[in-house]
Amino acid sequence: MAAPSASFFDAAYENETAPWVIGEPQPEVVALERDGRIGGAVLDPGCGTGEHTIHLARLGYDVRGVDFSPRAVEMARANAAEQGVAAEFAVADAFALGEEERRYDTVVDSALFHMFEEADRTAYAASLHAACRPGGVVHLLALSDAGPGFGPQVGDDAIRHAFGAGWELEDLRTATYRCYVADEGGATLLNVQPGSTVDLPAWLARIRRR
Ligand SMILES: C[S@@+](CC[C@H](N)C(=O)[O-])C[C@H]1O[C@@H](n2cnc3c(N)ncnc32)[C@H](O)[C@@H]1O
Repeated sequence: MAAPSASFFDAAYENETAPWVIGEPQPEVVALERDGRIGGAVLDPGCGTGEHTIHLARLGYDVRGVDFSPRAVEMARANAAEQGVAAEFAVADAFALGEEERRYDTVVDSALFHMFEEADRTAYAASLHAACRPGGVVHLLALSDAGPGFGPQVGDDAIRHAFGAGWELEDLRTATYRCYVADEGGATLLNVQPGSTVDLPAWLARIRRR
């Protein structure tokens, strides 16, 4: 199956029930910042409604959120304005990051990589390689195939395979990704009440560009 299109995501945002929209940054990303793992020019690819870019901009980081869904970027800008944070967002394709002039020291990928098929993951890693400075770090938070099948998932082998030559996998550990469960089907699968959040098994990788 091909990766979902920008119009698919535009529609998901219109419905306002997208499971990744939890109204706050992922706890794992908050912890990365607290642990001093973020620095320099920061890229948030597939930024969605902007929670991570807003969180980091509020703390004074030089951060840019990009998403290929114009609706996501519109919502991210509105969220930043509502919170009084000067955060930068742009519509951009994660497969063409090297075409921009800007280069990055830190990338925070929250739930983008796991959307892609194998060939696209390799192409995405190449795009990140072009966009990062040598020594730059990609933090990758992706839903794990150890989870209950709520949304796309990947195995750790997918991360190892996509980030091969030109990268060093410094750390790969189990983590969690917080999701919003809107409907009965998802709630039954996950054994929670509709309208609640749940922390699902994920991978958190730290990958350094050589
Ligand atoms: C699962 S959501 C995650 C959003 C956010 N990072 C989070 O964790 O809440 C994936 C996001 O990636 C965006 N996306 C998917 N493919 C993309 C691509 N090729 N280029 C840029 N953004 C993309 C989607 O529009 C969507 O906003």
